[in-house]
Amino acid sequence: TVIRRADYTPPAFLIDSVALEFDLVPERTFVKSTMRVRRNPDAAPAARLDLMGEALELVSVAIDGAPHPAHRAHEHGLTVDNVPDAFELSIESVCKPAENTTLSGLYVSSGNFFTQCEAEGFRRITYFLDRPDVMSTYTVTIRADKAAYPVLLSNGNLVEASDLPDGRHAAKWDDPFKKPSYLFALVAGKLVALEERIRTSSGKEKLLQVWVEPHDLDKTRHAMDSLIDAIHWDEERFGLELDLDRFMIVAVSDFNMGAMENKGLNIFNTKYVLANPETATDTDFANIEAVVGHEYFHNWTGNRVTCRDWFQLSLKEGLTVFRDQEFSADMQGGATDGAARAVKRIEDVRVLRQMQFAEDAGPMAHPVRPESYVEINNFYTMTVYEKGAEVVRMYQTLFGREGFRRGMDLYFKRHDGQAVTCDDFRHALADANGRDLTQFERWYSQAGTPRIAVRTAYDSAARRYAVTLSQRYGDAAPAARETQKGPLLIPFAIGLIGRDGADLPLRLEGEPAAGGTTRVLELTEAEQTFTFVDVEQPPLPSLLRNFSAPVIVEYDYTNDELAFLLANDSDAFNRWEAGQRLATRELLALAERAAANEPLSLDDSVVAAFARVLTDESLSPAFRELALVLPSEPYLAEQMAEADPAAVHMARQFVRQRLATALREEWLAVYARHETPGPFEPTPQAAGHRGLKNLALAYLAELDDPSDAIRLAVAQYDSANNMTDRAAALSALLAASATRSAAQADGALDDFYRRFEREPLVIDKWFAMQATQRGSQERPIIDTVRRLMGHPAFTLRNPNRARSLIFSFCSGNPAQFHAADGSGYAFWADQVIALDALNPQVAARLARALELWRRYTPALRERMRAALERVAAQASSRDVREIVEKALA
Ligand code: ARG
Ligand code: ZN
Repeated sequence: TVIRRADYTPPAFLIDSVALEFDLVPERTFVKSTMRVRRNPDAAPAARLDLMGEALELVSVAIDGAPHPAHRAHEHGLTVDNVPDAFELSIESVCKPAENTTLSGLYVSSGNFFTQCEAEGFRRITYFLDRPDVMSTYTVTIRADKAAYPVLLSNGNLVEASDLPDGRHAAKWDDPFKKPSYLFALVAGKLVALEERIRTSSGKEKLLQVWVEPHDLDKTRHAMDSLIDAIHWDEERFGLELDLDRFMIVAVSDFNMGAMENKGLNIFNTKYVLANPETATDTDFANIEAVVGHEYFHNWTGNRVTCRDWFQLSLKEGLTVFRDQEFSADMQGGATDGAARAVKRIEDVRVLRQMQFAEDAGPMAHPVRPESYVEINNFYTMTVYEKGAEVVRMYQTLFGREGFRRGMDLYFKRHDGQAVTCDDFRHALADANGRDLTQFERWYSQAGTPRIAVRTAYDSAARRYAVTLSQRYGDAAPAARETQKGPLLIPFAIGLIGRDGADLPLRLEGEPAAGGTTRVLELTEAEQTFTFVDVEQPPLPSLLRNFSAPVIVEYDYTNDELAFLLANDSDAFNRWEAGQRLATRELLALAERAAANEPLSLDDSVVAAFARVLTDESLSPAFRELALVLPSEPYLAEQMAEADPAAVHMARQFVRQRLATALREEWLAVYARHETPGPFEPTPQAAGHRGLKNLALAYLAELDDPSDAIRLAVAQYDSANNMTDRAAALSALLAASATRSAAQADGALDDFYRRFEREPLVIDKWFAMQATQRGSQERPIIDTVRRLMGHPAFTLRNPNRARSLIFSFCSGNPAQFHAADGSGYAFWADQVIALDALNPQVAARLARALELWRRYTPALRERMRAALERVAAQASSRDVREIVEKALA
């Protein structure tokens, strides 16, 4: 069944408070729920109370203390007839955590109990009005065997702890804040915590804890530091203080997503908590900071103000991603260092363009606020999260930081404690800034990626420069097209660059004087012309600075102009962008030639442009690394009329080899100059050095004679005091030996495995590295992947492990996955079907790997269709069926 946004109705009943009692036993956990229920005065009267429930055994139902026989348990929950206007409802039921492989609801992982309730997991714990507009206060009593489950946690404050007969014990938790059921959490087991006490802005003392299994306590410091930074940042930037006396983070190794913002008791995938220099890379450290921030920031944007219904998901996710992006940028470079902040911006835009633009061009295309869904878990998407964050960022671009803050303040003033909509957020931003944002609503309701075509004209006699912007959607998928109603309000940041490379002062026609060198034009019509006056010389336009809107800009720069922008633009984002445009253009031309079996060649001027970046010591190493990474294969394939992964791979490898060969001396020098001797520091500066050094190593591994790379990589592998360098060395060895004898790389792989056998997150890297290896005719990687599926450390039940091998191959190794014989697709279908029986959410994610099948060359397309049809015929979950049926429709 399809759920539609237009069908929203308020709940017929409200639940003001809930008292939950748990008797935890892995096989059968007994749950008693006692609720204060009353009719909702703002809803149509209902004859009966319908509660949601899934995979539950009902034991008893009582109203106001008396058994209530007028009830019926069924597939979707429990119907209770003959209910008064206000009453106490008690329900006893049983759930089965040990056999719960879906990781939704209450489940067991490594012998401990955990919950995951967003979006609709609470109904797998007890019967309830499991929808976010029903907000209640919770008290939770947990009883369990004391030796097996010494630690018992839930949301809020610990109010009682006691011992019980038979070696059992109990804890009672009380959460003073009303919350929707999706924010409920319970954890029980053998865990230990790193603790800190801090004072927040009002002077109150708070207890912070990071709970992990005992052997992981040495990997909690960075998560704790990130949490403390996040708490302070939210006070400073948004005036938002931690509202509970106690804030807990718990790590669990079996987890479907990244992490979950349960009130006062965040539950995290171990991947986003555990780090020390030996086991975690710089990327891991940065991701942990971002995710810890993200979940903490949800306490206000998501928990204090929550979503009325799941169509509003981006209200909390888009906003919270924007907040975590800003947090990371501030931690990188402070509030004012534009070049350092640009590094984070580039990373975020790269993800958006590679993943969200692709989503928007396929059968799963949907607006930031979707109109319908079959399974809500399929809508935790790049569009809702990342495009949603871009939409929030546009308010800040339009109103400035102060104006954005005014809007946020008004939003909390109006809606604290409520479950609201994306419209409520937009109205708060509009009202706080005295603006009408009616047109801006289209960013929430229209799917597809807008394209902005730019035309420019310089009139030297009148010294006028006219910039004409016209917006349209490209030929989007039908799913997107049917949502498109009219032009968007697009903040388009622009600068004009003079012959000497410096920005020109900007004055728009009608303005009294020039001001600033970057202007945010507001495009509201299908086509509009903006005229700059007093323009002394024909300028070069720097378009969409800092990526001021999630759109595609079409403008015919020459290669020389792009090289000039790459060398001179004052907007660091656009310097990077110029290099990417230059590379993309060359790579796409080469891919066409590769597809036609024509010889490949690369212009010296392109090599020279990249050489300048590589050797420009005025640029930060982190920026240089980003600028020297070529656009990814999936992104390039997506730009082709018909995606041809093999041709893209040949083209990209050709350019990598060309840059490696032409700049060999430079790469060697850069490698030597960016070593980071001494103790490991996870600072952005040190990470930038490691990043550039390891990129140099990766390029050197591309040389026909990779002996330099092998020598450097072996030394680096042996002497590394951190995972960034050790993993990069191993990758370089794998790449350098891909075309030659594999013996050296195999030895290093074995060593790596033995060193880190007891560190699951590192073993995930070991699997991923092999799944994403470059293959050859003689050594197709599918063989390696199939062999590794039988490795004793492999299991389909652990999502991180499944992702590290299967997803890495299907999404991270396009040239091998899209093998002409269809072997990759057959493997994909087998794994989707196998996963579907265990964990539909994870299976549905994997199912998405083929959704763009119509965009590929005919031979691949037909093989993909066959694999999709096999999955459609065999998949049983709503999750997977929604994906494959939309793909085939
Ligand atoms: N709200 C979580 C976040 O921080 C994501 C949880 C999604 N879980 C799910 N099963 N769909 O983004
Ligand atoms: Zn979130």
